[in-house]
Amino acid sequence: MVDERVRTGVDPFAPGELGPLRLRNRIIKSATFEGMSPGGEPAQALVEHHRRLARGGVAMTTVAYVAVDVRGRTFEDQIVATPHTTKALRGLTDAVHREGAAVSVQLAHCGAFTKLRGSGMPRGPSIAFNAYGAAHGLPLCLSMRPADLAVVVDAFVRAAGLAREAGFDAVELHLGHGYLLSQFLSPATNRRTDAWGGSRAGRMRLPLEVVRRVRAAIPDLAVLAKINLADGIEGGADLEDAVALARALQDEGVDAIVPSGGFTSKNAFYLLRGRAPIPEMIAAEPHPLQRWALRLLGPRVIRSLPFEERFFAKDARALTRAVEIPIVLVGGVVSRAGLQAAMAEGFAYVAMGRGLLADPELVVRMQRGEVERSRCTACNACVAAAMDRGGVRCVLDDAEGGA
Ligand SMILES: Cc1cc2nc3c(=O)[nH]c(=O)nc-3n(C[C@H](O)[C@H](O)[C@H](O)COP(=O)(O)O)c2cc1C
Repeated sequence: MVDERVRTGVDPFAPGELGPLRLRNRIIKSATFEGMSPGGEPAQALVEHHRRLARGGVAMTTVAYVAVDVRGRTFEDQIVATPHTTKALRGLTDAVHREGAAVSVQLAHCGAFTKLRGSGMPRGPSIAFNAYGAAHGLPLCLSMRPADLAVVVDAFVRAAGLAREAGFDAVELHLGHGYLLSQFLSPATNRRTDAWGGSRAGRMRLPLEVVRRVRAAIPDLAVLAKINLADGIEGGADLEDAVALARALQDEGVDAIVPSGGFTSKNAFYLLRGRAPIPEMIAAEPHPLQRWALRLLGPRVIRSLPFEERFFAKDARALTRAVEIPIVLVGGVVSRAGLQAAMAEGFAYVAMGRGLLADPELVVRMQRGEVERSRCTACNACVAAAMDRGGVRCVLDDAEGGA
């Protein structure tokens, strides 16, 4: 239950409860793919990245993302949940805990959209053109068979167990942004006529099965679900779907919901807002054909929306009214005023991505009264940086010659 102080606007620096966790404040570092795991091996840079965020005062940081299965990766250099990576991630969770923060891991599967070859065409809810993989010889996404669905559920459960072994306090299940579970939830991409599609209940069936089995497997960890308020694509899931999903997730014992939106493969900047960093994306793209396609089609296909502070707050409030579990506001929180407004609106927690990439010490600096706002300008160059070999970073550091 959200405590009453939250409803009336709690201090964002006050401790809070999130399922089994007691967090030191209300500020969570949201999942931002780090690109710090060459060949899928968590590097020391990844440990330092999260240690710095923890030292900077966040209550919980999120490692992003760990693919539950080798077929669930969008990048070669993404971590896959295995006993080997579990051992390596133990050093990261220990480092974060030593700084007094909790640590979550986002678990995901990309389903229909990947450009990685190796195990045949990607599979999702229904057959479709895979624009993302076309230049890499993967022009199609095939429909998952019942046996594929069982593999996916088992992979999430196994990954959640490994997250527990690695010392994570929480897992965040990725049900949004057009990843596999979101593809099942969306009427635009799930055109199945069997029990795993059709009605809203059918579309929710696979994601809820994953949630139920993960919840049962890790009763002592917090389970968060990142979902879409809206897909932002024609015929996609909308706010009504999100409210129904939030209620179902609460019934399945999820501890908190992180509402976002958009489909990474179709409207990547719906979930970010601000500038579309097309020149940086072209520079970071290793594949010549894909680079050429980006140069030619990027400006027409990659659309951005203007950045506003707390850009999902209005729709996300529908969830605070629909469920009792904490709702974590994500999207465009960059200032003390934004944090306070979110608390006053009934959000129990706030997750910050770019604001913290630009200013990892933002929380302690705000607490000391040194700053009121992150220096992030929503230039979104960090998105391209996450894809190149150096890993995610704020380009303002490059300009200033900093770290
Ligand atoms: C570089 C970068 C990488 C991201 N990677 C992920 C990811 O792996 N998983 C995810 O759910 N969201 C990802 N996001 C989205 C963020 O978690 C967050 O929803 C979004 O940035 C809006 O929050 P903000 O305005 O505080 O940045 C990413 C965002 C950025 C900037």
